Amino acid sequence: MAFIEQEEINRIRNSANIVDIISSYVPLTQRGKNYFGVCPFHEDHSPSMSVSEEKQIYKCFSCGATGNVFTFVENFLNLTFAEAVSLIASKVGISLSMEIKSKKETKFKEEYEVMDFALKFYQNNLNTENGTKAIDYLKKRGLLEETIKDFSIGLAFDQNMLSNVLLKKGYSEKLLESVGLVSRKDDQVYDLFQNRILFPIHNLDGQVVGFTARCYLTEVTPKYINTKETVIFKKGNILFNYHRAKDAIRLFKEVIVVEGNMDAIRLYSIGIKNVVALMGTSLTKEQIEIFKKLRCKVILMLDNDDAGETATLSVGNSFEENHIPFEVVRLSGEKDPDSYVVKNGKEKMESAIQNPLSFVDFKLNYFKKNKNLNDAADLAEYIKAVLDGLKNTNDAILKEVTLQKLSKDYNISYAVLKEQLGITENEEKKKEVPIKQKVVKQSSYDKICSKILYYMMNDAKYIRLYKAKLGMFPTKEHRQIANEIVYYLEKNKSITLPDFISYAENSNLKEKIMAIIENEKELDLEEEGMLELLDIMKKRIKKEEINKLKAEIKEEYDINKKMALVEKMTELKKENEME
Ligand code: UTP
Ligand code: MN
Repeated sequence: MAFIEQEEINRIRNSANIVDIISSYVPLTQRGKNYFGVCPFHEDHSPSMSVSEEKQIYKCFSCGATGNVFTFVENFLNLTFAEAVSLIASKVGISLSMEIKSKKETKFKEEYEVMDFALKFYQNNLNTENGTKAIDYLKKRGLLEETIKDFSIGLAFDQNMLSNVLLKKGYSEKLLESVGLVSRKDDQVYDLFQNRILFPIHNLDGQVVGFTARCYLTEVTPKYINTKETVIFKKGNILFNYHRAKDAIRLFKEVIVVEGNMDAIRLYSIGIKNVVALMGTSLTKEQIEIFKKLRCKVILMLDNDDAGETATLSVGNSFEENHIPFEVVRLSGEKDPDSYVVKNGKEKMESAIQNPLSFVDFKLNYFKKNKNLNDAADLAEYIKAVLDGLKNTNDAILKEVTLQKLSKDYNISYAVLKEQLGITENEEKKKEVPIKQKVVKQSSYDKICSKILYYMMNDAKYIRLYKAKLGMFPTKEHRQIANEIVYYLEKNKSITLPDFISYAENSNLKEKIMAIIENEKELDLEEEGMLELLDIMKKRIKKEEINKLKAEIKEEYDINKKMALVEKMTELKKENEME
């Protein structure tokens, strides 16, 4: 990453008016103090993006996109931060003190390049004479030419054609092996994908990092061959179709999760664009993080077979544990979402998506499987499983309705069910008390910290207040961000939000910082508010100190030391009450 001095970055940003720059890409109209336009970062037709000339930042009320003039061109033109600075510099007539290398010259440049080449090669094969059978196959599955193009679908023939071409072009065997395009056998490399239809897999940024390849001449096992893990292909980090879907996901605040690539392709091609595929039935830790970051509701629509049903339970449990809001769609009749659309059409699919089940309702059905509910032991087991599945739900109404339903359907006393649920919940609570309390405490604690940090990013006077009244955050994560802000001020002598955004672009805390800005962008900054927040924080910290002392006092056997500790605690308590 090219290193441009912060001072230079700030100077460039100060010379550029965000309204002028953004309006050269997107029409803006003035309304009051601010300017409004259609946000280019999600599909929209109404002007939900506002640009503030005074604050020199933009924000979209619909998808949440926010930032300064650099962030805008960076995202709009898909540039690196340094490229964005360089572009704005040239627009305002400032010559940069250094040359900026383009994004394509980054790490793994050759790896990405060779994947792009392979993609074009495979795509081209599909359009040759020998590609007709593959085209027929795709057409028979009802894929339009447009979809074949949109998804860059390609074809591999039955020889080492790709590696021959690539080696002739000067790429090394080692490189081809390292990106998983070839395998080695008896000291010979050969094309990994042969006689298969190729679907490229992109990383979250939209770069081609791998392929999944389907047989089409006859059905063989395995049906799909996939790129193995490579330096650029980390399957656990990827959701198929994410880069195409992300704008629609932001717009609808909803993401549909399917199992198979073909399911995602099908839904996307009929205009249901907010869809991603897991590429199988399991969910990785990294994928959970992707969903968390999207901060939207998930519609879990896995295959209609036993594997899909079992996966719905396990993926659903992961979503629940990670507090990701979601509902479930179970299609009936067809094997998967793809064939469901082929058979029933777009409208039926849309109505299925619009009528999802709660996870509890899903489990109500799921646990019935392989049970004879006329048998007392089976019924008891079933009821226990359902109650167990209810204990993680915070939705009191849903609990109530479910208990009523169980009571009515199986003729069991409501009171007994309620009591049993209470017992299950209590057992759970006993196990979980420390964690649960921590979560509750943390969420409001996090909010306070986030607001304080946002204040600090906006004005040096708030940083001074933070230093004078609080000194530091007790939690590392917040302390690190605060340190970045303090460091920025020390180096640059003054701070504004848009300048700090430029700085954050190159910080490894970027995502955390941008999340704070996005969350707090509506906060009105007034000194009184900051003082209040600092006050709450201080009280919290003292309270924690008191609790710690209490514990120490309990453990201390030396009477003199114990007295000293008690005195200290009393002092702290007094202070806390006085303030
Ligand atoms: P599916 O069998 O549901 O795939 O497997 P699909 O998308 O419906 O395939 P079509 O419709 O028969 O063409 C779900 C996913 O599991 C992975 C693939 O990512 C597939 O999309 N899979 C499946 C493999 O990796 N290898 C296989 O042999 C089968
Ligand atoms: Mn399928």
